[in-house]
Amino acid sequence: MDILTSFDDFQSAALSAIGRAGSPEQLEAVRIEFLGQKNGRIRDLQKLVGQATGDQKPLVGKRFNEVRTAVTAELEARQQQLEASKSSSPVSDFDVTLPGDRPVFGRLHPISRTITEFRELMGRFGFTVVEGPELEDERHNFEALNIPEDHPARDPLDNFYVACASATLGGPVLLRSQTSTVQIRTMETTPPPVRIVSLGRVYRPDTIDATHSCMFHQMEGLMVDEHVTMAQLKTVLSLFARSFLGPDVEIRFRPSFFPFTEPSVEVDVKWGDHWMEIGGAGMVDPNVFKAVGYDPEKVSGFAFGLGIERFCMKHYGVDDIRRFYENDVRFLAQF
Ligand code: DAH
Repeated sequence: MDILTSFDDFQSAALSAIGRAGSPEQLEAVRIEFLGQKNGRIRDLQKLVGQATGDQKPLVGKRFNEVRTAVTAELEARQQQLEASKSSSPVSDFDVTLPGDRPVFGRLHPISRTITEFRELMGRFGFTVVEGPELEDERHNFEALNIPEDHPARDPLDNFYVACASATLGGPVLLRSQTSTVQIRTMETTPPPVRIVSLGRVYRPDTIDATHSCMFHQMEGLMVDEHVTMAQLKTVLSLFARSFLGPDVEIRFRPSFFPFTEPSVEVDVKWGDHWMEIGGAGMVDPNVFKAVGYDPEKVSGFAFGLGIERFCMKHYGVDDIRRFYENDVRFLAQF
């Protein structure tokens, strides 16, 4: 009978299409093609059932149900098969050559990010990065830097002394109040020429407010050679400030005083419509050279110390230094 042949054809076409479907999506397309309510090929079979004459009807109806049940069962079996193979081989459709996703949590603190950029910029200017200890003795924090015993910077109330005497360091020990200590440590162990920067934490018992913290970061720089000039110092600092903050940034040098440099300057950059001090600098004082065994007649040098937080605040538009240390993820997540 023609009608029953059509049913057989439908069933074998459907079963082989189901067998060929290699993914749940392909299988769904097969389901729609054969069993879809609107335009599925099953509609043609339904019409045939309608056309069947009286005595054919029970047989045709029965066959229609058999075909539909068989195709539906095969679809379900194949679906389970596809899902099982998907979960048992999780790497089968995973392309290991694709670049990894960025982790959704964890990022660099803005200060760490700034330190990394400073290192890289100064590296391009030919400065090597060196490290120094945060616990210091008075020789490296004061004496060799030409800061005499009666200088106000040595007032115990303005420093974090942690021990009156130390077996390894000799005399009293303090948390360094400036990274200038690293100038001394470098020159003590390295003959000229020297071109270094050192970036790290310094500690001062300041009253904490929007621009002061009792711990902050500095970048110290030192260049010593036979004929180092103030013009070179100004060039390096101007280029550095412009590289970091942008080509239009204005920078100015004001005469100042530091025991370890002569002449000394304070360095400001223009922040909005007012100037912001970012650090100090100058030509290395001959007494400092003498303290480390360099001959001030043979070498000259410049040094500078910049506050890293100040730069970071200007760069990212942060108006309160305390934000950096509160560890509020709503703040940190913005960088
Ligand atoms: N050490 C100074 C401070 O913390 C900053 C400074 C000034 C460093 C002048 C220098 C320098 O190397 O030459 O205030």
